[in-house]
Formats: sequence, structure tokens, C-alpha cells
Amino acid sequence: MSAPVSRRALLTAAATSVLAGRVRAAGKAKLKIGLLLPFSGTYAALGVNIADAMKLAARKRGDKLGGREIEWVQVDDESDPAKAPANVNKLVVGEKVDILTGPVHSGVAMAMMQIVRQEKTLTIVTNAGAQAVTGTLCAPNVFRTSFSNWQSSYPCAEPMLKEGHKKVVLMFWNYSFGQESMAAFKEGFLKGGGAVVKEIAVPFPTTEFQANLSEIASLKPDAVFVFFAGAGAAKFVKDYADAGLKDKVALYGSGFLTEGVLAAQGAAAEGIKTTLHYADGLDNAANKTFREAFKKATARDADVYAVAGHDTIHALDLALAKVQGDTGAQKELIAALEAVRFDSPRGAFRFSKAHNPIQDIYLRQVKGGKQVVLGVAQKDSEDPAAGCAMGK
Ligand code: BEZ
Repeated sequence: MSAPVSRRALLTAAATSVLAGRVRAAGKAKLKIGLLLPFSGTYAALGVNIADAMKLAARKRGDKLGGREIEWVQVDDESDPAKAPANVNKLVVGEKVDILTGPVHSGVAMAMMQIVRQEKTLTIVTNAGAQAVTGTLCAPNVFRTSFSNWQSSYPCAEPMLKEGHKKVVLMFWNYSFGQESMAAFKEGFLKGGGAVVKEIAVPFPTTEFQANLSEIASLKPDAVFVFFAGAGAAKFVKDYADAGLKDKVALYGSGFLTEGVLAAQGAAAEGIKTTLHYADGLDNAANKTFREAFKKATARDADVYAVAGHDTIHALDLALAKVQGDTGAQKELIAALEAVRFDSPRGAFRFSKAHNPIQDIYLRQVKGGKQVVLGVAQKDSEDPAAGCAMGK
């Protein structure tokens, strides 16, 4: 007669078999990755570069992560926060994606956060810099592979002050990204003794800048600090030169001002200095390999948006390998993502406790149609993550 089996042994056996079943199922089922990105409108080129870089990085891995074949499901978010709840639900509730990625626009990210926090969907933010993503709304299931608004703008204040620019005008698209990046810049600039003479908020995605540029000419500041990106940035820089301001009032911004749009801006962009966690001229092996592969695959130059797409897949690859593709083992998968370290085209990559990258911020200048690195504006920049209780 066999000895009675204890309740504990039964529970252990059941748990083991559930886990084994999940792993077996994970081995067969496709890994559904949702892409919530703009494929139309002002930020379309940004969304396309993120998606193309993700797919290229996946192709390099046989279109599999953690042993599971990838199925991409994409939705054009149109950079429209009003449509974001429906678009996120399409992917999270309708498609039941295993992992949600995107968006570009901070307003879309804010709407997305409400849903993914509730549904506990593993989410990797691939661009949007909204502070709340890794601040007040931070969550164990949400990571960001790009930057926070603070990281892209705060470090620009010191080099501007060092170059003798004490009186500035701020100009920006009036939504969370623009507002937060101006607040971050002001934090550094006012602390260093600078003064803001005027803040010009332009509705997103307006690109009618003429009247504002005339006002800037009459205000005669030492410099202008701006946030514009994508097609709006291309137009702003050309309009700035056409208004005769280029050689009179120094133009600065977070690096999105000249990122991915240098060809369209042409000579008008020459000399512009910006701060960002990436520059195409970064001299490291990962950047060279990545830029060559992206150019070969797309016939376009890589940019900061493509880097985020590439690094999203790199991080997922390392973490999913540790759990053999079992996205159901979310606690273990989150721990694996938290431990991820690799050499990104931007330099060393790791996540902070709030799940935002800790990264160097470079001071860059456009020279000969390229982003040249002038130096490191902030070493190992870590977003203050105000309001995030996770990991504390
Ligand atoms: C944002 O909305 O967070 C954003 C959009 C474009 C470039 C950078 C940031």
C-alpha cells in the first residue's frame, strides 16, 4: 500500500504542472506584441522608425523572442489622446496582446497608463516622455526604453548659461510634453541665474509660427529654447532661419528639434545645439552596427526613435529568454527586465527603480548635416521619478 500523499505535496505538484503547462503553451503560442504608434500625422515618421527598428531587431533574432514566434498587431494612434482609450482597448482587451509597446505622444501615454495599470498588461513605452509614466503613475508592469521629459530638457540649461545666454524665450507645443520639458529646463536655468522673458505656447500640432517669430525678434532675447518634433520641428527650424533669426538669436532645444529631420531642415539647422540621450555620431560599436543595419534595411538614417525600438526588442529578448517566453510568469518577467543590462547604440543601458532608463545625456551640435557630440551634458542621468513609490 502506498503512503498517503500530503496536501502540501499535492499543491506543489499542481503548481508545477500549471507552470509546465504554461511554459509548454508559451512555447507553441505566438507572442502577440501590440504597437500603438502614430502612422499618420505630424509624428508619423517617428512611429514608422520605432516600428521598423523593432521589426529589424526581431528579424535578427529569427522573428522569435523567448522561443515564441512574434505576431505584430499595430494600431495607428494618430497622436490623438482623445482616441487613445479606444485604441488601447483594441489592443489590450480586443487583441489580448501579451506585450503593449508605444506610444510617441505623451498625451496618448497618459490615457494608456489608466488602462494598462488596471489590466496589468506588460507595457514598454517606446518614446513618450510624460513624467507620470515613471512618476506618479509608475507601475511594476510598465517600463520605458526612451527618456523622461526632464532628462531631455533639464541638462540644456547649464551649457546655455555657460555660453552667456541669460535671457531666454521659451516656445513649445502646448501639451504635457512641451509643458513638462519647459518646467524641467526652467528648473536648471533659473537655479543657474537665468531669466525667462516670455513663454510662447502653441497648440499642437499647429505649424503657423510667423507671428511668434516676429515677437521673438522684437523681444531680442539672448537665446530661444524650444520643444517641437517631427514635421513641426522641420518647419520651425526653416521658419526660424527665414525670419532672419538664425544668426541673431541662438536656438536651443531638447534634441527632438533636429532628430530625424536634418535632411528636411538643410542649412537652416547648421549650428543648432540640443541635449538628448543619443546622437548619430556616437562612437561605439553597437551604434555603428545598428546604423548600418537600419540604413541597409530601410534606406533611411537611424535616429533616436529607431534606437528606442531597437532597445525595446533587445531588452525583451534578454528578459523573455530568462522565463522561456512565459509571459504568464509576469513577476519573474518583470524581475528579468529590471535586471537587464546591455550596450545600446546610445551607450550603456539599464533601468532605474522606477523603470526609466539611466543614461548619459549628450550635448550635440548640427555640423555638416550631422549631429556631432560636443560632450556629456549629464552623466548617468536618472529621472527624479517624483511621486513613484515603487522600489523605495
Ligand atoms: C512626447 O509627446 O512625449 C514626444 C513627442 C515627440 C518627441 C518627443 C516626445
